[in-house]
Amino acid sequence: MLAEYLLLPLLASYASAVQISVAKSGGNVTTGLQYGAMEEEINHCGEGGLYAELIRNRAFQGSTTYPSNLDAWSAVGGSTLSLQNLTDPLSSALPTSVRITGKGTSGISNTGFWGIDVRPQKYSGSFYVKGSYKGSFTASLQASNGEVFASAQVSSKSVANDWVQHEFTLTPKKKASSSNNTFVLTFDASKTSGGSLDFNLISLFPPTWNNRPNGMRRDLMQALQDLGPKFLRFPGGNNLEGQTIEGRWKWNETIGPLTQRPGRATTWGYEETSGMGLVEYMEWCDDLGMEPILAVWAGLALNGNVVPEAELDVYVQDALDELEFLTGSVDTKYGALRAKYGHPKPWTIRYVEVGNEDNLSSGLSSYKSYRFQAFYDAITKKYPNIQVLASTIDMTLPGNAGGDYHLYDIPDNFITKFGMFDSYSDAHPILLGEIAATEYNNGVGIDWSNTHFSLYPWWLGSVAEAVFLLGAERNADKIIGTTYAPFLMNLDSYEWSPTMISFNSNPDDTAKSTSWHVYNLFNKNHMTNTLPATSNDTFGPLYYATGVNSKTNSHIFKAAVYNSTADVPVSLTFEGVGRGTTADLTILTAPSDVSMNAVGGANVVQSQTTKIKAGKQGVFSFNLPNLSVAVLTTN
Ligand code: AHR
Repeated sequence: MLAEYLLLPLLASYASAVQISVAKSGGNVTTGLQYGAMEEEINHCGEGGLYAELIRNRAFQGSTTYPSNLDAWSAVGGSTLSLQNLTDPLSSALPTSVRITGKGTSGISNTGFWGIDVRPQKYSGSFYVKGSYKGSFTASLQASNGEVFASAQVSSKSVANDWVQHEFTLTPKKKASSSNNTFVLTFDASKTSGGSLDFNLISLFPPTWNNRPNGMRRDLMQALQDLGPKFLRFPGGNNLEGQTIEGRWKWNETIGPLTQRPGRATTWGYEETSGMGLVEYMEWCDDLGMEPILAVWAGLALNGNVVPEAELDVYVQDALDELEFLTGSVDTKYGALRAKYGHPKPWTIRYVEVGNEDNLSSGLSSYKSYRFQAFYDAITKKYPNIQVLASTIDMTLPGNAGGDYHLYDIPDNFITKFGMFDSYSDAHPILLGEIAATEYNNGVGIDWSNTHFSLYPWWLGSVAEAVFLLGAERNADKIIGTTYAPFLMNLDSYEWSPTMISFNSNPDDTAKSTSWHVYNLFNKNHMTNTLPATSNDTFGPLYYATGVNSKTNSHIFKAAVYNSTADVPVSLTFEGVGRGTTADLTILTAPSDVSMNAVGGANVVQSQTTKIKAGKQGVFSFNLPNLSVAVLTTN
């Protein structure tokens, strides 16, 4: 009696359960909705993020937009620092170096990407130096109070007329109490001729994922691997487009030795080194088993400048060259270049996206009238197995071209789009290339004047995303895949929030967002075939997708409850699944609708998995609370 009394108020809005009967057949055969990832140099997601380099501004790269500077560097031991553009620079790609002038112990220190993580592990470093010097260098990792965690003496090979690389390792014996540490490089200026030396490309890496040289940060790769993305869309996003035509992402300036990469003024407010370039993106795909979705520049910059039709050929050819670099045999010009850079085996590219958001920045009319077609024709002619995607669906797509749809919005507007793919034709597959609830419900929509929306994904937004994803799951045969965007954010320097994963220089602080948990649950419970369902109720506040995994024969129910005044009681049957069948029911909830996972904080998403048994007529009975995301899989 007491239990009934307690239950009554909760069940007030539901006189009876939502009955869902799932048929045995008749749904879509799909490869299942592919959950992926998206990368672009925003929020220091690459440099100062996934790319494990610890030294910020390592080669003093600059441009007219962001001139070379000494950011992150300080002089040590009373020395002075000055930027030089020598007549004999390290390389034409890296024309600027630093001159350190002093008396006695002199040097330079770097604060890293807003801190340097120090723990007992091997750090691999190197630097180039020019100038006659008979002594040794000291490389060290130090706390801000001067405590030295590790130090290495490096005998000088430095000469007056050439740049000589020096290498060293550092292995701290203990973990620093914070990331407030610096890298310090010193020498004895009294043993130089003239009291100064020139330095460039000063680099330090911790152990990387798969121990790749010039590789990725382990904790962030782990957070990605845990999520299990099936594809990677790169290198953008707006990052691909550039603010100007000249500022576009140029694949051929991101390959080869680091001394040959000039870097670039990113779209996102800073100069990048291009240390994380095309090959590193592909290695990232290899390491996590992701299908690359390669975006090629399509003749539109963010300032609205468009390449005229008569001048487009060179950019189409550039995209073909990039594809040859990635996929061509070693007998081809660019395949041979790839081999020279350590990858004789061609990669496989199955998806190419032409541009990014060409429906924006005044790009649509030229995209529709000649830009997309030119790339589509050239790529499909040379690579008939490549699925070419337009960067928008606001156009009539030719042939078998697919399109890309992006959705940044308030949570309520994700709910209204639950059914948008039901009427979508399957003639042209669609990529959901950027999806995120960004700003709290306000009855209007998001304000684009500032891309610092909610700092992190929050629970209500994540549930709204789940509802939208369920609409996609129900139509997975029409959809190539879906990804949250942007994916990564360095909390110490970011241009856009929220993101899937947030971090700072301390790997212990990395935060998987509330949306990460939703995507993870849906991704790990993969439906290969949808199965149609009938119900005594309409969608809302309970939204769901039903199907089966043909490999495991498990029947699957994925659901989300958005805006319910009470728990939703569910009676679920799968045709052919009888009484006594057991199932795992996982329900995600959070303490409140605004709960979020913050950098350095605890995970707020509560995940509860229970085993339930089908009763009479194979009915699985359970309640789903408001603002919950759930998956039931039969055993
Ligand atoms: O993901 C952030 C930005 O949003 C992307 O660069 C762009 O494609 C979109 O407008």
